[in-house]
Amino acid sequence: MANAPVTVTVTGAAGQIGYALLFRVASGQLLGPDTPVKLRLLEIPQAVKAAEGTAMELDDCAFPLLRGIDITDDVNQAFEGVNVGLLVGARPRTKGMERGDLLEANGGIFGPQGAAINAGAADDVRVLVVGNPANTNALIAKAHAPDVPADRFTAMTRLDHNRALSQLAAKTGVGVADITKLTIWGNHSATQYPDIFHAEVAGKNAAEVVNDEAWLADTFIPTVAKRGAAIIEARGASSAASAANAAIDHVRDWVLGTPQGDWTSAGLVSDGSYGVPEGLVSSFPVVSRGGAWEIVQGLQINDFSRQRIDASVQELVEERDAVSSLGLI
Ligand code: NAD
Ligand code: LMR
Repeated sequence: MANAPVTVTVTGAAGQIGYALLFRVASGQLLGPDTPVKLRLLEIPQAVKAAEGTAMELDDCAFPLLRGIDITDDVNQAFEGVNVGLLVGARPRTKGMERGDLLEANGGIFGPQGAAINAGAADDVRVLVVGNPANTNALIAKAHAPDVPADRFTAMTRLDHNRALSQLAAKTGVGVADITKLTIWGNHSATQYPDIFHAEVAGKNAAEVVNDEAWLADTFIPTVAKRGAAIIEARGASSAASAANAAIDHVRDWVLGTPQGDWTSAGLVSDGSYGVPEGLVSSFPVVSRGGAWEIVQGLQINDFSRQRIDASVQELVEERDAVSSLGLI
């Protein structure tokens, strides 16, 4: 028997990630083939017409699982009864900007959205923040939703995780499916730390297989951490299809579970694990069981990793302090 329809709200629906994301949500790739979807598209007034155009195209796909599309520029209407919130709408950075430069420009969007989620969302609401700076925007949204459990607010580092999988697979000459237990720690920014010390390549320890600390420090880590800037340089626009793909991966795994014997990465509200101050939204190694993320515990962190995790977490502390002084939390 088919499941009850799930309401999925996508903010920034007329943007480039929105365009790459909505068709995959409506086709069933987000929640599986047995779950019908109702879409809510939130846009700013100037972009509502473009969102209407996307909705026309969604209709024209005749997706069997799509049970309706509402388009609005009203934040409260957008989140009324929402089960899954994909918070994409925000300004992307352009050449020469760091993601932190977007703090002030975009931070103001996420407080009202958190408040609307607090006021109207369904009890099982799950929120993924994609709009940058994603970790701190998730922190802002959560701060405005005191009645929603903190673990329902997450930030997207799955794109970084997928980028790291791909780079490590190329280096070691295996397929991405042969790599498990990679971790992205910290912020979705150039300070993030992609960690291969616990990863496995076809069942063998990845750091031992690579056996090349210079490649790790000077090639792998910067390539993954600065991939967003490299895409902007090459395309003239920030990543879109790969970002949408990562959002699908994140929510699908959250709802349906991660595979046994592996883990993934997600930005979660810290419970203090691995010395990350409680309340910061930081990326961790995670599994999903019973529809909830759990941080993988008990990993030994060596000095190489400790330094890099601490540096990224320090940046998150500074971002939190910056939005606090702007009155956003
Ligand atoms: P875009 O400019 O193409 O689209 C953004 C859309 O958001 C626009 O249509 C705009 O009208 C809308 N918007 C702006 N303010 C809004 C608001 N208050 N409510 C609803 N909609 C609003 O940008 P994009 O390329 O789709 O990127 C969106 C965001 O995602 C950017 O911040 C980008 O940096 C970020 N991003 C994050 C990741 C990640 O891995 N976390 C990856 C890629 C991009
Ligand atoms: C990315 O990682 O591609 C996005 O966060 C866009 C950016 O600004 O890097």
